[in-house]
Amino acid sequence: MILVTGGAGYIGSHTNKELNRAGYETVVLDNLIYGHEDFLKWGAFEKVDLRDLSGITDIFESYSIETVMHFAAFTNVEESVENPQEYYLNNLRNTLNLLQVMLEFKVKKLVFSSTCATYGNPIEIPLTENHPQNPINPYGRGKFMVEQVLKDYNSAYALRYVSLRYFNAAGADPEGEVGERHNPETHLIPQILDAAIGRREDIKIFGTDYDTPDGTCIRDYIHVTDLADAHLKALKYLEAGGKSQVFNLGNDNGFSVREVIETARKVTGKEIKVTETDRRQGDPPILVGSSQKAKELMGWKPKYDDLSQIIRTAWQWHKMDKKNNEMN
Ligand code: UFG
Repeated sequence: MILVTGGAGYIGSHTNKELNRAGYETVVLDNLIYGHEDFLKWGAFEKVDLRDLSGITDIFESYSIETVMHFAAFTNVEESVENPQEYYLNNLRNTLNLLQVMLEFKVKKLVFSSTCATYGNPIEIPLTENHPQNPINPYGRGKFMVEQVLKDYNSAYALRYVSLRYFNAAGADPEGEVGERHNPETHLIPQILDAAIGRREDIKIFGTDYDTPDGTCIRDYIHVTDLADAHLKALKYLEAGGKSQVFNLGNDNGFSVREVIETARKVTGKEIKVTETDRRQGDPPILVGSSQKAKELMGWKPKYDDLSQIIRTAWQWHKMDKKNNEMN
């Protein structure tokens, strides 16, 4: 049985689907603060908050957990700057709670959701796993701290982990069973699609004076189903006895904000009004990773290596997601 914390969230739900499809049994732990009840389509579900040690313990008593996939976290960079305590409590302290119970029950395999935000401002592009980690916001720092904790737990308690440093997750399940739904929505692609659909008037470009070819920020967008597949590969890697590792997960390819908007125009056939505004605080100009290591050591190969394809799946989901329509 695989415990999937945050399995009602964006990346967690897509991974939960793929795990079940591959024949794994799962139990999802989610407090449903940002997770969605209608994303709970596979496996068992326990509504528990990771603050609650005895709630976590009950799950480990009730199910025979072999491996944990830990997605549950807050993920908004700006919010983490305004309210760091919330981020350290939820993303760091609550992870320590989970690890404590894992050790108590001798569960020693973990797949952890880390982020390219642990690198901070790149000194070299593409970012490899060896790039120095100097996170520039509490979100990135909290995730970085967990990575440090994992290293120590690995040495002291033989807890084996794979830490996956995601670049910009995007797109939706091509079968439309789950997708991206945040409230409030802050991410670029869903907001562009909101503008395309008429749920918002325009898309704001945060900064047009960056040192990039068209002046807007460049990001490495990776399809959520490819991320889900990487989690399965990480699980198999751990099951085969692989030693603890960190892997970047991206498409090794960067797109500027303007390029993303242009691609979305082509995919949707809609106008999409743009307003240029000031920079958003804490945005590095370029984040593009090398995912060579994941390809070599886990045999991972992203299927959606084309931005149009990624946006197409997001668009399909976005148009039909009734809950998203209700929220906005
Ligand atoms: N952007 C806009 N307008 C918007 C929203 C975003 O111009 O309305 C720009 C941002 O400035 C950024 C790019 O589009 O340059 C992508 O922004 P997102 O908010 O979609 O994603 P981020 O790169 O800020 O954040 C993502 C994840 C975080 C993770 C971070 C790593 O959502 O969890 O990458 O830096 F920490």
